[in-house]
Formats: sequence, structure tokens, C-alpha cells
Amino acid sequence: MTHRNRNRKEMHMISQTLQKARDFEAQYAPYVPQEERPEFHVTGGIGWINDPNGFSVYKGEYHLFHQYYPYKAVWGPMHWGHLKTRDFIRWERLPVALAPDMPYDKDGCFSGSAIEMPDGRQLLMYTGVREERQEDGSMKPFQTQCLAVGDGVDYEKLDANPVLTAADLPKGGSTEDFRDPKMWREGDCYYAVVGNRPADGSGSILLFRSDDAFHWTYQGRVASNHRQYGMMWECPDYFKLDGKDVLMVSPQEMSPMGLEFHAGNGTVCMIGQENEKKHLIRENVHAIDYGIDFYAPQTLMALDGRRIMIAWLQNWDTARSHPVTDRICGQMTLPRELSIRDGRLIQRPVRELDNYHGEKISYKNVPLSTETFLTGIRGRTIDMTVNVRPANGSVMYHAFKMNLAKDGEHVTTIRFKPGQAIVRVDRSRCGYRFDIVHVREFPVYSRHGCIKLRVVMDKHSLELFVNDGEQAASFVMYTPVSADVISFEAEGELLMDVDKYDLVFDKEDEE
Ligand code: FRU
Repeated sequence: MTHRNRNRKEMHMISQTLQKARDFEAQYAPYVPQEERPEFHVTGGIGWINDPNGFSVYKGEYHLFHQYYPYKAVWGPMHWGHLKTRDFIRWERLPVALAPDMPYDKDGCFSGSAIEMPDGRQLLMYTGVREERQEDGSMKPFQTQCLAVGDGVDYEKLDANPVLTAADLPKGGSTEDFRDPKMWREGDCYYAVVGNRPADGSGSILLFRSDDAFHWTYQGRVASNHRQYGMMWECPDYFKLDGKDVLMVSPQEMSPMGLEFHAGNGTVCMIGQENEKKHLIRENVHAIDYGIDFYAPQTLMALDGRRIMIAWLQNWDTARSHPVTDRICGQMTLPRELSIRDGRLIQRPVRELDNYHGEKISYKNVPLSTETFLTGIRGRTIDMTVNVRPANGSVMYHAFKMNLAKDGEHVTTIRFKPGQAIVRVDRSRCGYRFDIVHVREFPVYSRHGCIKLRVVMDKHSLELFVNDGEQAASFVMYTPVSADVISFEAEGELLMDVDKYDLVFDKEDEE
């Protein structure tokens, strides 16, 4: 194969478009002051980011690429930004990996994935987008799947690109919506799932197989939505977890379903068993995240066997502005450890976060009825767990409320009503000045009025984990960081335990 015979110098040929993006990032990223960035959530160097891409292990480290438009804090012709980490918390930024510099991807290097090859190279598979003007003057996108090989820093696109085109689609499959390949190795061969819009205009996930990861053939459909869960399914991921097969997708144009799914762009996980053709027989379907700002999750298998997920901590429907600056827009979620319990996906912050726990402040059996402030319980870069239960076992309280990121003007609230078993997060007064959705309610499992709420805040984000990860809900908070007051309220009488850690990131300097 031609790419095998290339010498090192040729391997690392960098196009003008890529060099321009690298230079731009190198020049302007240093101007983004640390105050404008979260402490431990991934942001782009400069400009806009969306989906995580190529989240994978390479040479003993975890690599993360992302959709990237460095030149402005809005979506534009997509590049791939690049970082790596050893612990999912501290990240090292690497040069921009891919730029839209070939005829088949001139309008964007869309989302995709990465794997480590047995010969030590890293292989990226992404969607190349090329737009062509039609007779009626409109622009029509053509999406194909493309490969690039590299050494963990520099990548060369294959001469054979694109490797999956209209010719590889099942009958009726749209060439305009054919994107986001997620590949993995299984035994002696490779598989990839790719989102596609079938003839009925809805969504389905196609399966491709390869012996060498360079030549791919269509195998069949892993799942189709038949307009049940939105329309086009973006960013699929398909993996084994705790004896189940899990398919995650990010549907466009969802219709709301009770409190489980909201309208617009959502995320869905389907849990079941694959058959011999790798078609998923569903046993349970539920939302992945119940917040406002979560999309396009992607997972990897960590070196110790954990399945870790990261997602874009934002959503197309709500991503209108960045909390602080117009230099950068977008951040990733905290990586989360996944497991399955009672047929549901459980999500917990990666345990590595504990290594950044600073001072702990604990309260036990705090009786709550009026608004209560606890000494030392405040902050915007914190990991806090609150356990709530009725004060008197036989009398149920009516509501528990936690106020976060609060000052005279701002507050974001998390409320739990045991009678309804619903958690409600309201960020209407968080400082966001556009009239979009700011409230989410979701059902939780509460045993006798007991609930455990873990809140991870990193300046402008709030990630909530209910009952050890039974539900997760992610939100961008547009509140100035100076608003760091936390208070608790109850209707009725309850008891509360609080454990709060500051998250501290200068440990290396201290040692
Ligand atoms: C999902 C998505 C993908 C696409 C990418 C483009 O957020 O729409 O389907 O590859 O973003 O940036």
C-alpha cells in the first residue's frame, strides 16, 4: 500500500491550511487568560470546539481530538484539535491534527475516531465533507469516510481516500448525511459504526467491517430509529459493558417524550444484546444526560479496563455564546466512568478527580427547614456531595433545594421533591441573556425520600450526578465566578450531610 512505503519526511508533509491553523493557534491561544478557561475541563486553544473525536489510547496515553474552528468562536470549516492526558484531568495540548485541505474534505473534517494500529501508528477515521453547487444554486454536501495515519502528532491523509463513499451505502442511504465513524478492533478484525439517513429521512447506524482497518465493507444495520428517537442519528458509539451491548447516539430533531427526552438535539443510549450480525436487540432505552448542555458523547476503554465517556458540554440548540469571552466557545464534560446497573447506564466522574481534592469540609445530620448557609461551603471549582433524608422517618418533607453560584443577582438551583421523585435544575438566573431553555426536570429513583446529589462545578459548568450516577445532568453556567455562595433550603423537615472538596490544580508546584 502506498502509505506504508512513505518515508518519514513525506509522512509529515503539512498542508498550508493545516500550518495556518497551527500557527494561528500558537499565536493566539496564549492570549486566552486562564481565568477564561475552566480548571480541568477541555477547551479549544482558541475559537470554537464541538464534538469530542478520536478519544482513544495511544502509546499508553489518552488522546482526545475535537471538532475545531480556531479562527472564530463560531462553527466553521471543521479542523481537528488535539490533546492528550494520562489522568483525564490534566491535558496537554498538541498541534492541530487535521485541516480541511483536500478536495474530498475541503468543507470540513467532521467527527470520527482513532485507534492504535499493531504497527504502532495511530489511525484516524473521519468524515470528509465536500459541498457542490447544484443547478438551482443551492449547495449540496457530500459526506464520505476518510483515513489518516500518524505518529500521535502529525497525520497523513491516505491516497486512497475517501475509503467509504456513496457506493458503500445500502439502498436509499443518504450521501448528505453519512458521518461520524466510530471504529474499534475486535479479535482479528476492525469494525466501524457510521450514522446515516435512510430513505424515510430518519436515522440509522450502519456497520462496516475490515481486516486491516484500511479496506472496509458494509455489513448491515446495527439499529434504525424509524422516527422513534429523533431523525438523523449523529455520533454513534457501540461497545460492550458489563455483559451488555450499548449503542449511544445523538439524534437531531427529537420530539419530547415525558421527562425522558426533550425536543431538539438529544442523546440516547440503547442497552441490549447484539445478535450474530451485530444488530442490537434493545432491552432498554434512555437519555444519557438530563441536562441542557450535553451532546455527541464518545467512549474509550482505559488501560485498566474502565469504559470512559466524554462529551461536548454544550448543545446545538443552546450554544449561542460562551460564558466569558468571544475568544473561545465550547468545552468538554468531565470524563465519566460508565457501568450498567439494573439495565441502566451509570455515570460517575473519573476517580482521578479525587487526586485533586483539596480541603474537605463535612457536615453531618444538619437539620434543615429555612435557608441555611454552612461555613466553608461555597465555591465554583468544587466536588460536593449532599445526602438528604427525612428528619422524621414517618413524615415526608415536601422539597429540598440547593442554591449554587449565588450572589445578589444570580442563582442556579437544584430542587428535589420526593413526592414526585423529580429533580429540577433551574439556571434562569445564571446570567445568560438569551431566552432559551434554562430549566430541566427529570425523574429520579428516591428511596423513602433519600437522595444523593453530587455536584461537580468548574467555574462555568455544573455537572450533577444523582444517586451515585443513576442520572447525570450537565449545564453551562454563565455566572461570574465571583458568585460562589451556596445555600440549602427545605419545605418540611429533613436532615442533610454535606461533603465538599475544593478542587486544587497546583499540586505539582507544591511538591
Ligand atoms: C454533531 C455533528 C456531527 C458532525 C459534526 C460537525 O455535533 O453535527 O454529526 O460530524 O458535528 O462539526
